[in-house]
Amino acid sequence: AKILLVNGPNLNLLGRREPGHYGHHTLDSIVQNMKNTANSADVELEHIQSNAEHELIDAIHSTDANFIIINPAAFTHTSVAIRDAILGVAIPFIEVHLSNVHAREPFRHHSYFSDKAVGVICGLGADGYQFALKSAINRLQGPSA
Ligand code: DQA
Repeated sequence: AKILLVNGPNLNLLGRREPGHYGHHTLDSIVQNMKNTANSADVELEHIQSNAEHELIDAIHSTDANFIIINPAAFTHTSVAIRDAILGVAIPFIEVHLSNVHAREPFRHHSYFSDKAVGVICGLGADGYQFALKSAINRLQGPSA
């Protein structure tokens, strides 16, 4: 089984970007931890981070993953195009946010993804990615899979 991890704009700055909201973990350390977890479950983890909307769309179009974990970052609140891409390939996904978007500015309260996600995790920092991965692996390998 294969899981595609998609990280949107500015997440390459994790570690130095607004640590009060996003914590001190770097994206590299988050992805490395996830790869370790995935490998020990015999699951392949493919990762893309991009600041460009079309690159995220192209990665979603071209993946052969069975499941997607996505933090669309600011595109959460703006991108009909990424929503349509993920619906177009019909791959189930979990939406992750490091910060609790509901405790922040009103423009962060709406997501173009949440109504189509298997589940949404926000506010738990880097742990949220691990929890999403665990849940994705359970779905791919669980008794009902
Ligand atoms: C974010 C929340 C978004 O509102 C913001 O634009 C981000 C990161 C998060 O992980 O908390 O870039 O998706």
